[in-house]
Amino acid sequence: MGILRSLRSVASFDTPVVSPRKRRFARAANIADLRLIAERRLPGGIFDYIDGAAEDETSLRNNSEAFGRYEFRPRVMRDVSSIDTSASLLGHRLQFPLVFSPTGFTRIAHSQGELAVARVAAEHGLPYTLSTLSTRSIEEVAAVSDGPKWFQVYAWRDRSMVRDMLQRAAANGYDSIMLTVDTAVLGRRERDVRRGFTLPPKLGPGTIVDGIMHPSWTWDFVRNDPITFANVAQSSNNGSGTAVTLSTFISEQFDPALSWNDIDWFRGEWNGTISIKGIQTVEDAVIAADRGVDAILLSNHGGRQLDGAPAPISLVRPVVEALGGRVPVICDGGIRRGGDIVKALALGATACTMGRSYLYGLGAAGEAGVERALAMLTDEMVRTMRLCGARSLAELTPDLLTELSQGDPR
Ligand code: FNR
Repeated sequence: MGILRSLRSVASFDTPVVSPRKRRFARAANIADLRLIAERRLPGGIFDYIDGAAEDETSLRNNSEAFGRYEFRPRVMRDVSSIDTSASLLGHRLQFPLVFSPTGFTRIAHSQGELAVARVAAEHGLPYTLSTLSTRSIEEVAAVSDGPKWFQVYAWRDRSMVRDMLQRAAANGYDSIMLTVDTAVLGRRERDVRRGFTLPPKLGPGTIVDGIMHPSWTWDFVRNDPITFANVAQSSNNGSGTAVTLSTFISEQFDPALSWNDIDWFRGEWNGTISIKGIQTVEDAVIAADRGVDAILLSNHGGRQLDGAPAPISLVRPVVEALGGRVPVICDGGIRRGGDIVKALALGATACTMGRSYLYGLGAAGEAGVERALAMLTDEMVRTMRLCGARSLAELTPDLLTELSQGDPR
């Protein structure tokens, strides 16, 4: 009796959650848990489109694992009662140094798609980057977001189409463009090849069985507007709903002749800031800075383009040193923990971006999942800073880290 009484004084009972998915979501502790919930909810082909990458997926793995090559040198006794994570980036004061990367075809993960991600970003005052290949238009996203909005562009063969999109973006309050330069051809994503994945998804016996096995996704998919490339509906064969593989679509539409001179073309067409996404060497970072871009995203497209490309985190320090603070450097790829953001900033990055981390949240639970993914990363970031004795981003400096050499036991 005595034991029961003392138990009662310290234990309280949770209201039971009936749906196993909701229960798993309520208990999810980190981004990896959200990924597992998304894997269960999404049909295999859809999950693989999001989770997969090029060829042997070496870059995909390395992007995240490379963070493990840096160890913290935590300082103690520094009064970490108050932590300031605010940052300045491209004319915005941000509460966290974090940007939402552009992801094409976002509504495939959940019908709330781009609108959910843009709403969460706006609520926290963080930039949302809308992909050219989005499934909600420039205007639809602007209607739900009064936060910082950026627009990602590819160099299409048809430049009048790009001009039109840039004008629409400017008219709708987007203040920065992000030119993706690592997609001269599409990387070979072998999970998509094996699945016969097309955009929009083709219905065959395999997809129907997969759909039946994942009723929550299927019910959400069939009840909502059909998915199309909302920004390019008139000009692409996808506007007509024809299923094409992404690689066919991109080789037909994208201009493989893109070169450094095109930066001037974009400058002539766009009054806001321009960042360049897909820089993978110190040399190209220097050229981009000399060409006057406003920010550089070190990125290998989340491992989806060239397999065997360097992990963005390993480029941060050499690029920042070569540029000497001329241009802000953003680390894009492999961010799955708040501690990853702390490491990138300690090495000299101004901010980080995330792609899959929010897509796993979206695929797991729609807008609530995106909110959760962001909360996980920002909570982890603050906790890591406290445990490292760093009170503000100014205190995130290279001496916070030790780079382990290949032979070090880990
Ligand atoms: C992407 N990415 C991307 N990039 C881009 O410039 N335009 C796009 O349309 C897309 N589409 C896209 C779809 C999906 C499903 C993924 C996972 C990624 C790349 C993205 O912007 C970013 O570079 C990576 O996602 C960063 O790596 P992490 O955060 O996913 O590890």
